[in-house]
Amino acid sequence: MTKGLVTIFGGSGFIGRHLVGRLAREGWSIRVAVRRPSAAKFLQPLGDVGQITAVRTPLGDALAVEAAVEGARAVVNLVGILYEKGTQTFAAVHARGAHTVAAAAAKADVRHLVHVSAIGADLHAEADYARSKGAGEAAVKTAFAAATILRPSIVFGPEDKFFNRFAAMARLSPALPLIGGGHTRFQPVYVGDVAGAIARALSDPGCRGKTYELGGAQVYTFKELMEILLRQIHRKRLLVPMPFAVAEMWGSVLELLPVPPLTRDQVRLLRHDTVVSPGSPSLADLGIEPTALEVVLPSYLDRYRPGGRFGETMAL
Ligand SMILES: NC(=O)c1ccc[n+]([C@@H]2O[C@H](COP(=O)([O-])OP(=O)(O)OC[C@H]3O[C@@H](n4cnc5c(N)ncnc54)[C@H](OP(=O)(O)O)[C@@H]3O)[C@@H](O)[C@H]2O)c1
Repeated sequence: MTKGLVTIFGGSGFIGRHLVGRLAREGWSIRVAVRRPSAAKFLQPLGDVGQITAVRTPLGDALAVEAAVEGARAVVNLVGILYEKGTQTFAAVHARGAHTVAAAAAKADVRHLVHVSAIGADLHAEADYARSKGAGEAAVKTAFAAATILRPSIVFGPEDKFFNRFAAMARLSPALPLIGGGHTRFQPVYVGDVAGAIARALSDPGCRGKTYELGGAQVYTFKELMEILLRQIHRKRLLVPMPFAVAEMWGSVLELLPVPPLTRDQVRLLRHDTVVSPGSPSLADLGIEPTALEVVLPSYLDRYRPGGRFGETMAL
């Protein structure tokens, strides 16, 4: 028996693929709403025939968003970007897009809305990313007061953009930068736990109207994370402190690339810790025990070791 229809905006992304698998196993019918349904085809084997469908839904198209939530019992919004490009601005995607989804969900009488934001979301933040996430949360609360807002720290898992990016960099470069000296603190949270948190919020009416900050079992500095990564991939690299001002200069150049590895806005984000605020509802309140980083990293980072699938370069 199906649990009903859930529409997942951004379901083809990193967190999305894990959530789709999880909700399919729980018996939901799933409609994935994305700009490019062809890029969501890989999700279909995660469910039974016809259980997972994809619809083209740019968040800028309010009518498409309304059509995507029609008949849904629940809606999850996972759409987010790390840098701006063309019409993909933070304001359009994180703020206006979030409002469009929440307003459509309210109009369609959807029972549960889960909006995924980020730790540090704040209308007065220094970084445009964090400010737009704050504006998105405010817009969601206005349009759909009972929405559950989840704010993860950095998320790790096989397709993550954090550990994979630095592991790939370590294959090619003799040194890794420690932006701001590497003192910024993070609380990495496993993608399976984030999917579990969303699944719980969809089925527990007690989560309505609440905001949860999702962090893992332990807090690490950026430098500690780089050391763990290098140990895991069996490579010795120099860790070179880079002042924030120098990193911003690099960001101003690198952000001109089609897929920028670093932007000035990301450097501004790095000036602030990304850890669960004291007293904030968190994974524990959702009945989830965080999965340890060290348990999961080997399952996808070993391929960057010398001799591994992505590790054909020399070990320095
Ligand atoms: N990953 C992390 O470490 C992390 C940490 C904190 C918060 N978060 C938040 O968690 C959410 C999911 O993150 P993620 O890592 O899974 O992101 P992701 O892998 O980049 O996936 C983003 C998804 O959004 C879709 N999308 C992008 N622009 C769109 C638009 N204009 N209209 C409709 N769909 C659009 C993408 O599909 P198409 O490109 O095909 O449209 C994709 O399915 C985001 O809100 C992110 O800010 C992530």
